[in-house]
Amino acid sequence: MKLSILSLLPAMASAAYRSEIIDHSDHGEQVLSARPHEYIQADDLPDAFTWGDVDGVSYLTRSVNQHIPQYCGSCWAQGSMSALADRVNIARENAGVPYTLSVQYILNHQIGGSCYGGSASGTYAAAQKAGPIPYETCFSYLACSSDSSEGFCGNVDFSEETASQTCRTCSTFGAGCTNIDKYPNVTIGEYGTVSGADNVKAEIFARGPVACGINAEPLLNYTGGVFEDTKIADKLTNHIISVVGWGSDSDGQYWIVRNSWGEYWGEMGYFRLRMGDNQLGMEDGCSWATPDVYSESNFPCYEGGENCGGTHSDDDTYSAREENSILEGYVGVQYVDPSEDVDSVYRRL
Ligand SMILES: *[C@@H]1O[C@H](CO)[C@@H](O)[C@H](O)[C@H]1NC(C)=O
Ligand SMILES: *[C@@H]1O[C@H](CO)[C@@H](O)[C@H](O)[C@H]1NC(C)=O
Repeated sequence: MKLSILSLLPAMASAAYRSEIIDHSDHGEQVLSARPHEYIQADDLPDAFTWGDVDGVSYLTRSVNQHIPQYCGSCWAQGSMSALADRVNIARENAGVPYTLSVQYILNHQIGGSCYGGSASGTYAAAQKAGPIPYETCFSYLACSSDSSEGFCGNVDFSEETASQTCRTCSTFGAGCTNIDKYPNVTIGEYGTVSGADNVKAEIFARGPVACGINAEPLLNYTGGVFEDTKIADKLTNHIISVVGWGSDSDGQYWIVRNSWGEYWGEMGYFRLRMGDNQLGMEDGCSWATPDVYSESNFPCYEGGENCGGTHSDDDTYSAREENSILEGYVGVQYVDPSEDVDSVYRRL
């Protein structure tokens, strides 16, 4: 972990908001396809576009609340996994109820951070290497990581056996919980960073929401409207959110941003931020990832998990994740990057 003076400053500037970005280092990129700003002209983009309303249809996954059942600084995992899940839903053309991804799996395996903070680009880089990310119902959110003693976290079993589980079932009273090693999942294909308003807009328009850092301090008591703040000090980022689109009003354009503080905060869990001046540091550092393969159907596991590696040992968890084999029942869909069909991207304009 690299602790730069930048990552210390926000904490010093105010005691009210503790930074949830503990790692500002460069996690590299894996870029194979053309980047959207290379094939979409900024001037061609509409004044308003949001994945929350594309011709009346929302492609967004549900809002989340990182702060319950107890405080957990998992914004980096929430923002990055929400944006990735949105991209799967966009690829699926919104067929059925959208899948969401297991943030607790990310926390259990310390993929990019813990309840004490992390980084979005670090999460995408580490998750790409770790392999299949399970859908949410594999291991639901507990708001705990092994280093957290907040609320009931001290009582959560983070022994190696449990922590190595990607997915679990607790089949009946007294039987305990067991590992499941075959589960619907998504893998990451490419990942990288993008900055500058026009580039971020092209990325969102072509491929879907992105995860970006912001300074959350000035937003703690936000109650709606387009937020504007140009203080230099407020550009030091300490929180990660996902940006789902943009809109415009008489004063210009603004970003439409999904936070992870519940629907009771802000505008139904979202906020709007004036575009173009790197407000709150947001346009400076956004991360994106594309799906590689996502499960459209499952390998059918028994309720007790017996046919899916259901033992109380940690024996084959990792080997199963690595082999990622083709099993009966699974249909995995290969993601096609929009750069392979630029005309279809332009048809949406
Ligand atoms: C938010 O409002 C509370 C209650 O008025 C106040 O104590 C707190 O300082 C405010 N926080 C910010 C960042 O303005
Ligand atoms: C992940 O899903 C794919 C299909 O999308 C499947 O082939 C693979 O076996 C799954 N991995 C695990 C660990 O279940």
